[in-house]
Amino acid sequence: MKHPILLFCTALVLLVSGCSKPVHPTMIPTPVPARPAGQTDVLGLTAEPIETVHIGVVGLGMRGSEAVRRLVQIPGAEITALCDLLPDRVEANQLQMKEMGKTQVVSKYSGTQESWRGLCEQADVDLVYICTDWLNHYPIAMYAMECGKHVAIEVPAALDMDQIWGLINQSEKTRKHCMMLENCIYDFFEMTTLEMAQRGLFGEVIHVEGAYCHNLDPYWDEYWNNWRLDYNQKHRGDVYPTHGIGPVCQVLDIHRGDRMTMLVSMDTKSFNGAKIASNHEGKPVTEFANGDETSTLIRTEKGKTILIEHDVMTPRPYSRMYQVVGTDGYASKYPVEEYCLRVDKPADQVDARHISDEKVYSGAEKDALQAGYRNVILTPEFEALAKSVGGHGGMDFIMDYRLVYCLHHGLPLDMDVYDLAEWCCVAPLSRVSLEHGSMPVEVPDFTRGAWNRVQGFHYALAEEK
Ligand SMILES: NC(=O)c1ccc[n+]([C@@H]2O[C@H](COP(=O)([O-])OP(=O)(O)OC[C@H]3O[C@@H](n4cnc5c(N)ncnc54)[C@H](O)[C@@H]3O)[C@@H](O)[C@H]2O)c1
Repeated sequence: MKHPILLFCTALVLLVSGCSKPVHPTMIPTPVPARPAGQTDVLGLTAEPIETVHIGVVGLGMRGSEAVRRLVQIPGAEITALCDLLPDRVEANQLQMKEMGKTQVVSKYSGTQESWRGLCEQADVDLVYICTDWLNHYPIAMYAMECGKHVAIEVPAALDMDQIWGLINQSEKTRKHCMMLENCIYDFFEMTTLEMAQRGLFGEVIHVEGAYCHNLDPYWDEYWNNWRLDYNQKHRGDVYPTHGIGPVCQVLDIHRGDRMTMLVSMDTKSFNGAKIASNHEGKPVTEFANGDETSTLIRTEKGKTILIEHDVMTPRPYSRMYQVVGTDGYASKYPVEEYCLRVDKPADQVDARHISDEKVYSGAEKDALQAGYRNVILTPEFEALAKSVGGHGGMDFIMDYRLVYCLHHGLPLDMDVYDLAEWCCVAPLSRVSLEHGSMPVEVPDFTRGAWNRVQGFHYALAEEK
């Protein structure tokens, strides 16, 4: 499908940007803004160690209130400020803290759309932890970094390419951490499987899959001001890709030896979306931009592929997919947790009538296999603590704990601003592909030239310093 106007535009953009020929003849180029003068990348960024990490939490709805509950249980962390547009949510969270034995004075900000400015300016705030609706993530994070604070932003941290490049530039300029709170990289199956992949159990990993399939019927009415349904109604594309793509990008060492180069996307019509919006509004809604199912295929520099799916509109069972395909093995979290490994049998024992001849590890055999691949940061004691505090079974606690631990020790965080960029860009770039008949779209190198400098994903540990 070579639309002449598109080809002309492609050629023009390439000419203007001075790039060499595109990787794919019909790929839609994605511009990369020049790095502002005097700035350098923030790969492996470290900051001064912080004795007690003082945290200001902005957005105290369903997710933010849960974050407050977890953060008061993190050693070395202290909440010093709370902010929500709605004053009663600030009061409710201060009460929650008191009931958990935290009686220190907390500054409170509420009442206007920009009350968070005061929190960002507060001297005893080191980290601004943002749990608002999606549209508010970007202005708060930008201002917080401007005020010299590290930021942690709920998913998706950024909604379009301007916001993504804005956060990258701001982190590079201020040398402040800008981390997206992608909790799913800390789930137990994912952490163990990452360890297996890094130790070569699956051979070379060549294909991975991730998804966000979650029927949101019970939740739509719970969001403040209907922000989530409203966003889906107005935007086509995979608007919530990060839970699916984050864990599998870690397995592929994205911007740590490989990088995503292009994607193509396809969606269904909106069959259920308009119905849900009609029920919500109590009048017929005919326009609904987001397809019920969106699938995106991504290719990497090293010739590997990633499949990402999004479905929040059907009764399809909850799934983040998390499948890892290697030359010698396979891991699957959904729909069933299992591993499959190649078995090298003598030729006379191979029975071609068997549809598959690999060794399947499920149930107790899976548990026994996993026991040999405990993730380096997941000691049995820490795992038990995480499960007792909880938050999606414990992964949320591990995420917060690692964030505070790394800030306390002055270590690079597990996720940097380029992870944020790569995982968020699926939303705007899938939309471009969909709006051009599923044409391939270039995924840029958000590190602007440094994607191959670091080799392999690694958790920073204080004892290595
Ligand atoms: N990582 C996960 O597993 C996970 C799970 C749920 C939600 N989330 C993310 O968490 C975020 C919040 O989701 P939620 O379910 O809590 O939504 P919510 O609607 O329950 O809460 C949003 C809160 O933001 C507040 N808010 C709105 N504008 C504000 C402003 N200008 N200043 C201060 N506060 C403002 C609202 O009053 C509300 O309390 C979203 O980004 C969502 O995607 C992540």
